[in-house]
Amino acid sequence: MTKEEQYREIIPQIQSLIAGETDLIANMANIAAVLHSTFHFWWTGFYIVKDIEKSSIINHQSENLSANNRLSEAEKEILNHKSSINQELVLGPFQGPIACTRIPYGKGVCGTAWAQNKTLVVPNVHEFPGHIACSSASKSEIVVPIRRNGEVIAVLDIDSADYNTFDAIDQKFLEQIIL
Ligand code: SME
Repeated sequence: MTKEEQYREIIPQIQSLIAGETDLIANMANIAAVLHSTFHFWWTGFYIVKDIEKSSIINHQSENLSANNRLSEAEKEILNHKSSINQELVLGPFQGPIACTRIPYGKGVCGTAWAQNKTLVVPNVHEFPGHIACSSASKSEIVVPIRRNGEVIAVLDIDSADYNTFDAIDQKFLEQIIL
């Protein structure tokens, strides 16, 4: 069976699993399970956009403040923009080995897909600047943002232990699944 046929087979299955269930975590858990057991990826799961706890924002900002004296105006501007983002990605339901729990805005493949609000297909993670290696086995990756009213509320992240696993077919069907 081609992967296109596999996607076509699991889409109705996923639709009936999540129909009538409004709980985001429950639906993410079942979607991760179906995708992972069908395609045997290395890691299949979700990161959810959440507010950073106040205490860690204060620490972050005071670190910025002391570093500010040594920075150029352009660097300060970037820093101020970054510290105005009081949200981060937090690990959600997944299948596979343990993973990093928090990913900052704009960092790694997940944080970049969130910041750019678009799907990223990465044929070789070692060539992606700032890739976050939760596992050294991961070689290629796809990250699909999940939106509500145009804003990213979570991302679907899939890692493969082989290079060049993901292409436009995965992008098309995964975007369809998580819409
Ligand atoms: N590699 C991801 C981090 C998450 S793990 O792969 C599960 C990234 O660069 O964002």
